Amino acid sequence: MDYSAKRLDELQAAFDLPPAQIADIAGKFQDEMLAGLAGRSSSLKMLPSFLARPAGSETGRFLALDFGGTNVRVQLVELAGDGRWTVPAQNALPLKDPVGRYDYTTAATAAPELFDFLTAQIAAVVEADEDYLLGHTFSFPCRQQGLNRAVLIGWTKEIKTAGVEGREITALLSEALLRRGLGRVKPCAIINDTVGTLLTAAYGDPYTDIGAICGTGHNTCYFEPAAAMIINMESGNFAGLPFTEYDRRLDAASERPGSQRLEKMVAGRYLGELVRMIAADCLNLPLETGSLSAEDLAAVLGGLPRPVPAAALTAGEFQLLRTVAQAVVIRSARLVAATFLGVLARTDPALSFRHTIAVDGSLYEKMPGYAARLSATLTEALGPKADLLTVKLSKDGSGVGAAIAAAIAGEGR
Ligand code: GLC
Repeated sequence: MDYSAKRLDELQAAFDLPPAQIADIAGKFQDEMLAGLAGRSSSLKMLPSFLARPAGSETGRFLALDFGGTNVRVQLVELAGDGRWTVPAQNALPLKDPVGRYDYTTAATAAPELFDFLTAQIAAVVEADEDYLLGHTFSFPCRQQGLNRAVLIGWTKEIKTAGVEGREITALLSEALLRRGLGRVKPCAIINDTVGTLLTAAYGDPYTDIGAICGTGHNTCYFEPAAAMIINMESGNFAGLPFTEYDRRLDAASERPGSQRLEKMVAGRYLGELVRMIAADCLNLPLETGSLSAEDLAAVLGGLPRPVPAAALTAGEFQLLRTVAQAVVIRSARLVAATFLGVLARTDPALSFRHTIAVDGSLYEKMPGYAARLSATLTEALGPKADLLTVKLSKDGSGVGAAIAAAIAGEGR
C-alpha cells in the first residue's frame, strides 16, 4: 500500500461515524438542549422566537426582508392561505460585490452603511404611497425580547460589520427606513431563517415541527411543546463532537476560534476549506488556502467538469480529492441527522407521532447525495419508525416565513 493510500484509509476512518457514535452524538445533543432550556450552561443557546406555528389561514400582502450573510433579498409576498403564496415582486443583491466594488461584511463597514444598503433594496420593490408590514429574516444568533425586538448576540459565518453586535436590529432597520423616506414600511416581526423555514413548511403541513438550514451556515429550530413556541437552538454552536485534527486547525484559523464548532464541520462556508486542507496537508495535493468552495465539491462529486482549483491535478490526485470530499460531505449529512435524532428524542421519545422536518439551503438542495445520506442516517437509527418522518426541502422558506411572521404579528395588532 503506498503512502497516500495508507493516509487515505486513516482519514476515512477518522471521518467515519458508525451508528453507535451517531447515537452518542444525538444523546449529547439532547442533553445540551435540556441544559439550555433549563438556563444551565450549554453550547446550545435555545433562543425563544415568540412564535408558535401558523394556522395556515394567514392571508394578505407583506414585505419580506431576508438577510442571511451572503445576499439581501426583498420580496413582496401574497399569502393566499392553505399553504399557498405568490411573490409578485422581488429584488436581491449580494452583500459582497463579485467584482469588488463594495463589501458590507467587513469590519470597515459601519452599521448605518449596511442598513442603508438594505433599505435601498426595499425601495426598489415598494410603491411610495402604500403602507407595508415587513417581516425580517435575520439569520444570526439574537436575544429575542419579543416578536419584533432582537439583539444580535454576535456575528457568525465570518461576518464582521462594525457596530451591529449588541444592538437591537429592528431599531437599526427602522432608523434606516426613516433616513430613506420609507416611513410607511413598518417592521413588525424579526425571525431566524430556520424559523422561517419551519413556518413556511408548517403553513401547508401541520406536522412540521423541525426547521433547519444546511447552506452557507447550519442551524436548526424546533417547536418546543413545553414553551408552546418555536426555539432557535443555534445548533451550529453545538460542541459535543468528535473533532479530528483538521477540525481543530480549521477552527483555530477561523474568525472566532472555539465557537460554531458543528457549523465548521458541516456547513457550506467551511466544507471546501476542510477538504482542501486535508488534501493539501495530508495527501500533498497542490491546492491553495481558500481555493475550494462547496460548489467546487458539488462539481467534484457530481461528475461535472472539473472546477478550476482542481484543473492541474493528475487523474490519480483528482480521485483522492474526490474520496476526501465524499468522506467530509457524508460526515456532514450524518452529523446533521444526529442532531435531528436528538431533537426527536426530546419532543417524541417513543416516536409515536408524524413529524415533518423542513430543510432549506444549497448544501441540502444541491450537494450530490446529501439529502439521501441524511435520510438514510435517520432510517439507520430508527428502523421502520423512520416512516413517521418526512424530511423535505422547503425552498425559499426563509423569505416567505418572514411574511407569515408579519401576518401573525399583524393579527395581534
Ligand atoms: C448561522 C447563524 C444562524 C443561522 C445559520 C443558517 O449558524 O448563526 O442564526 O440560522 O447560520 O443561516
